[in-house]
Amino acid sequence: MNTQVAIIGAGPAGLLLSHLLHLKGIASVVLESRTRADIESTIRAGVLEQGTMDVLNEAGVGARMRSEGALHHGIELAFGGQRHRIDLSDLTGRAITVYAQHEVIKDLVAARFAADGQILFEVNDVSVHDVDSESPSVRFTHGGEPQQLNADFVIGCDGFHGISRPSIPDQLRRDYQRIYPFGWFGILVESDPSSEELIYAQHARGFALVSTRSPKVQRLYFQCDPKDDVNNWSDDRIWSELHARLENSDGWKLKEGRIFQKNIIGMRSFVSTPMQHGRLFLAGDAAHIVPPTGAKGMNLAVADVRLLSMALEEFYKKGRPDSLAAYTETALKRVWRAEHFSWWMTSMFHKFDDASPFQQELQRAELEYVVSSRAAATALAENYVGLPFA
Ligand code: APR
Ligand code: PHB
Repeated sequence: MNTQVAIIGAGPAGLLLSHLLHLKGIASVVLESRTRADIESTIRAGVLEQGTMDVLNEAGVGARMRSEGALHHGIELAFGGQRHRIDLSDLTGRAITVYAQHEVIKDLVAARFAADGQILFEVNDVSVHDVDSESPSVRFTHGGEPQQLNADFVIGCDGFHGISRPSIPDQLRRDYQRIYPFGWFGILVESDPSSEELIYAQHARGFALVSTRSPKVQRLYFQCDPKDDVNNWSDDRIWSELHARLENSDGWKLKEGRIFQKNIIGMRSFVSTPMQHGRLFLAGDAAHIVPPTGAKGMNLAVADVRLLSMALEEFYKKGRPDSLAAYTETALKRVWRAEHFSWWMTSMFHKFDDASPFQQELQRAELEYVVSSRAAATALAENYVGLPFA
């Protein structure tokens, strides 16, 4: 099998890249280890930056996002018994859309198939070869049969646990990492929204977040031990923890409902450099991870593949490899900014068991500054809605 660009992984990065390339007349094949049903139902985050929305709209896959996603012009920060609104639109002129990642995946898969795009699901034993030559290939098995996909480029969009990043020799790679001593317990709830906007809450018992999925389904999180087990948490115990962390004396009440999904996610910051080795390029979670507090994961994946699609277009249409050669440097500027923002949001809102009273006061002072200084609020807001593409 031959194509121009072999893409490993059908997450937001791989699918969007394949579609952007198609729109530029560049052929690709996407190889995915899971089933279509599985990728279309895995629950992940759901905050899209304005720039991400623009990319999806320009790619012609934004219709359902525009009609079913919810445009949010602000977020609330809760601490010290009070809630404070950060008016994203007033501070930045931009907004965010809350629209679940697996809905983006459904839209992208539909768009790829409508354009006769090739996505092979349930591939196994994927390996990359000859990436330091001009004719790299990907070997895999599909339906039990060994296959080889020959391409000009291989793009690793296979997430944190994929095979692409480890295909770059260890001695050429440098990884930067921070693992946080807490995780998030996430639930999906059948109920009306408790709040029109997302609420990020700092509390002595730990962080909590009120988010939403639709007018009838809500997404709530609370900080937990990353090694905890969802079976330790009855619905009653979950609700009493959320009430304790989110409610204060202002009369606002969290709405309860039927909990139909529970999961625990670990939290890490991670960057691997370079994001290119010969004809192999990494995009999205394959190259970097952010803790979810800044809601940047999917947005960074979109920013990476936007760059890659433009660089590949330059290569194929103008014969210029300069942007491809600059990919690591260009992509990492945005990545490190988002890494800092996500780390900062995480540090400002979570309970650190080893924090000294001094550090606790610093945390409180930082939160107070963010909600009392327009300059500080703007710094949070412009990162949250996403900095413009370079
Ligand atoms: N071969 C083929 N596919 C693979 C392999 C492999 N060896 N390993 C992993 N995959 C697939 C996974 O099954 C998954 O569907 O690659 C895809 C990677 O998708 P994501 O993990 O969603 O990564 P990415 O597209 O970079 O999107 C980043 O997704 O993980 C979230 O929160 C993260 O929002 C961020 C976004
Ligand atoms: C979500 O809705 O899943 C969500 C929202 C905001 C975050 C992280 C996750 O910061």
